[in-house]
This record gives sequence, structure tokens and C-alpha cells, in this order.
Amino acid sequence: MSPLPAGPFARLAELVDNIKPGKDPIDLSIGDPSGRVPAFVSEALAKTAGAFGRYPPISGSDEWREAAAAWLNRRFVLNGAVDSESHVLPLNGTREGLFLTLFPLLPLAKNGAKPVVAMPNPFYQVYAAAALGVHAEPLYVPATAASAFLPDYAGLPEAVLERLAAVYICSPSNPEGAVVGEEYWRQLFALAERHDFIVLADECYADIYFDKLPVSALPARHKQSGGFSRLLTFHSLSKRSGLPGLRSGMVAGDAKLIARFRAFRNVAGPQMPGPIMAASAAAWRDEQHVSANRALYAEKMEAAERILGNRVSKPPGGFFLWLDTGHGEETALGLWREQGVKVLPGTYMGREIEPEKPQSNPGFSFVRIALVSDLSTIITALERVRDFLGP
Ligand SMILES: Cc1ncc(COP(=O)(O)O)c(C=O)c1O
Repeated sequence: MSPLPAGPFARLAELVDNIKPGKDPIDLSIGDPSGRVPAFVSEALAKTAGAFGRYPPISGSDEWREAAAAWLNRRFVLNGAVDSESHVLPLNGTREGLFLTLFPLLPLAKNGAKPVVAMPNPFYQVYAAAALGVHAEPLYVPATAASAFLPDYAGLPEAVLERLAAVYICSPSNPEGAVVGEEYWRQLFALAERHDFIVLADECYADIYFDKLPVSALPARHKQSGGFSRLLTFHSLSKRSGLPGLRSGMVAGDAKLIARFRAFRNVAGPQMPGPIMAASAAAWRDEQHVSANRALYAEKMEAAERILGNRVSKPPGGFFLWLDTGHGEETALGLWREQGVKVLPGTYMGREIEPEKPQSNPGFSFVRIALVSDLSTIITALERVRDFLGP
């Protein structure tokens, strides 16, 4: 794990913790949805507390599996193609699944050489931890404005594609809010067929979008092939339901990959506790709290557009502003020192493409601003950002 830098928030703490904020502090660095816990979630937890006295099944309860599969079928218009027995598994937060999934699925070698695991750059840091954990070679593929903030996997050199064993792809993406379109999915799956790799789609933000429903991996794959082969997709209640403390997500897709992951989890994976499973099933069944959350994010994004004008371009999804200020770390430091607003330098989520050249990190000139507090706090913070950045 030695090539893994400290996490983005540890680096941010190092940058600002010894510096006095210029005003009362507002933290917009962490994507913690801080939503209200819906009453039906608390009720489900209380009703099933007795289940803490038993080991839960690794595959989840019947109720959880049915709720999860029904949500996937409904949300992605899959007309029953997702089977509750063979296509879904519960995760204790998507992050553990994104990390553990490579352990049973990645080959030790690909075409006689060290396997490559590709990921967008910048990215959610667990992808790199997973690649390093299985002794694969992590490959950081730039996702910049020039490529609509998505990685160009099809453009990788042939010699790399030969060693490619898995790719992570995030849509809507953290940090940029970019969304993968149908053609991109189609080409990515075709590339996966041609070069024999698996696609790990992190779709934690699938229910947070603005003007258009994002095209998701499962329906795109199903439309193309009539099944889900080579695909695992990850969903979370952290963002959809604003319940990051519940630690509840799922993985869905290719029945063969799910079976191998289930067998591995039976030995090495953490089960989801019974009451969390009951509360999660209730949350997957309900859409009302999700559309209410989405409407709040839309309000916050509109406020950002109003206050910051053409400094922001509204992303298709997610709840982050990805703001190009020329030098993200300097901006984060200055914003904290002068305005008491904490944001994340984009560079902490990326990797330098050329060693010793900080500017070659695709996140270098950006800050990430999470629109997750209440609206009035966000308005105050964004007005301070505007005052700091100037016209
Ligand atoms: C892109 C992305 N993937 C996965 C996760 C983890 O989600 P969970 O809370 O389900 O572990 C996050 C959380 O911030 C995220 O931003």
C-alpha cells in the first residue's frame, strides 16, 4: 500500500488545520449528505432490533433481496431481468464492495504479465486501494474537460489493453458530476468483450441528477447483450436516501461474478446486520424521500448558478461543484484563511500523470465543493466563495 497517499481529508487537515479561519467555519469539503433520517427507517430499525442477536446471512434476507431487485427492475426499467437470487448482494456501504470485489475476481496475471486495473483520474480513492491490495497495477486515466470528464479507456495502447483486467467507472462521477451516455457504455462493454476485462460501475449518485435521468450500466448492458455479463454495478443508500451512517449499499450484475463474490464473502466478507437490512429494504422500496432529496439538491445547484454565475456549469448529476480556479490548493487555503469555507483541492483526488509535475494532476486547478448542508448555509458559503474569487 506504500504508493497510496494519505486520504484527501487527511491531506486537507494538514493544509488548513493549523490556520485560523477568517470567519465562522463552514465545511463544504466532505460529501456527507446529512439528510434527515426518514421515520420509516427508524421504525424498521426499532422493530427488528432483536435480529442483532443472530448472525445475518451473507446474501441478505429474502426481504432485502426482493426489495433490492425490485428497485433495480423498477428504476432501470428492466422488466424483471434482475433476479433477486442471482443478481444482487448486500454491502455494508458501497466502499467495502468496491474494495473487496477485486480479491476474488482479479486474475494473478493477464496474458503472462501483471494485470492492470484502470480508473478515472481524479477518482474516489478506494479504487486505487483495491488495485494495490490485489497487487495489480493501478492505471490512472485522465478524465478532463477535453474528454467530457470521462476516462478514454478505448484510447489506451494495445499493450495496456492486453493486461487490462478490470476498470472502474463512476457515473454520475465524483468529483465532476459527469454522466456516462449510452454510446460510451456500449463501447466500454464491447471493449471489455474484446479484451476480456470486467467493468465495475460505481453508480452511487444514480438518483441525484438534474435535468435528465442518467443512462445506467445495467439497462445499457442488457439492451446490448440481453444480460449483464462482465458487469458489476454498485449502488448506495448513502446518497440516494441521504443515509451515509446506515452503511448500506449493494452490488448487482453478472450472475457468475456475483456467485464468485458471494463465495468469497461467505469466507471473508462482512454480513449486513439484520436491522440494517430491514431498514435498507424499506429505503429501497420508497421513492418519495428520494425525490424530495433530489428536489433539495436542485435548489442548491440553482443557488450555485445564481451566485457564482458562469464560474459554474451545472453538472448532469451528483452534488458537487467542480470549480476551475487555476490552483485548487491555493484556493482552498485562501478560502479557509479569508472566508472560513472549507473545500477540497481537486489535486487530492487525482494523480500526477508526469512524476514531479503537480500541474499534470488533472485535479490540480480545481476545487470540489459539496452542496450537502442546508440551503441557507450553502448560500452563505457560496457568497463567500464569490467574494473570495472576485468577478
Ligand atoms: C463515488 C463514490 N463511490 C462510493 C462511495 C461510498 O459510498 P458508501 O457510503 O455507500 O460506502 C462514495 C462516497 O462518498 C462515493 O463518492
